[in-house]
Amino acid sequence: MLRVESVVMSFGGFKAVNGANLHVGAGEIVAVIGPNGAGKTTLFNLITGHLAPDSGRILFKGREIGGLSPHVICRKGITRSFQVVNIFSQLTVFENVQIAVLSRERKTYDIFSKVEGMAAEEVERTLRSVGLHDKRNVESVLLSHGDQKVLEIAVALSGKPELLILDEPTAGMAPEETETCIRLIRKLSDEFGLTILFCEHDMGLVFDIAQRVMVMVRGGTVVQGSCEEVRRNTEVQDAYLGGSA
Ligand SMILES: Nc1ncnc2c1ncn2[C@@H]1O[C@H](COP(=O)(O)OP(=O)(O)OP(=O)(O)O)[C@@H](O)[C@H]1O
Ligand SMILES: [Mg+2]
Repeated sequence: MLRVESVVMSFGGFKAVNGANLHVGAGEIVAVIGPNGAGKTTLFNLITGHLAPDSGRILFKGREIGGLSPHVICRKGITRSFQVVNIFSQLTVFENVQIAVLSRERKTYDIFSKVEGMAAEEVERTLRSVGLHDKRNVESVLLSHGDQKVLEIAVALSGKPELLILDEPTAGMAPEETETCIRLIRKLSDEFGLTILFCEHDMGLVFDIAQRVMVMVRGGTVVQGSCEEVRRNTEVQDAYLGGSA
């Protein structure tokens, strides 16, 4: 479904992504791990069109998407959540998802249309599937951090993606919230057949839910393979897992 080949991207003279390779098959859950500053977020920004590669190829279902704009890539079937929560905090949970659904359908709010009921059924369904239905009328700023991150996943789902990209989905969550989020990621994969690419610092979590892992260090791919292969890789143990894996 997704193939990243020898991608390079620099900020000024600094190569934040430097020869990254990544392969994500349809229906897989794939994790990218790597130390702070390894280039994980930058790589995700390249895949979703928030940045353009200097060189290399990014293929989605066999077609080059490198350098296309975020909304074009979104329409092709890739949506994402951000490392830092990115929702309309003054709007309710319902309204955040509603805007995402309407924008997918290219409908916009205007002063002549009665907006409350628009896309309501789909919004309710999405909120039910992520477990936020009870909080649909809550102003988003009042949600717990964990619920805000889940709301962002709901917004990403509203784009009806084939590939969902999550940048540190459980960052800053309490243990209970993390559990809920893991269950949600599994459910999205099992029930909806979504292909999921995420990055995460919590190794236990990565090895728990990912089917394959890509290890990124200094912008490049050290190895990618099954959890077992990655755990056994001596270069990974030295470079990232501190030799203790
Ligand atoms: N907009 C930018 N301008 C300049 N340098 C940047 C920019 N964004 C990222 N960088 C640099 O690129 C490198 C990769 O950053 P990136 O955010 O992709 O890492 P990361 O793997 O996501 O790290 P973390 O685990 O901390 O989220 C870092 O050295 C960072 O300082
Ligand atoms: Mg990051």
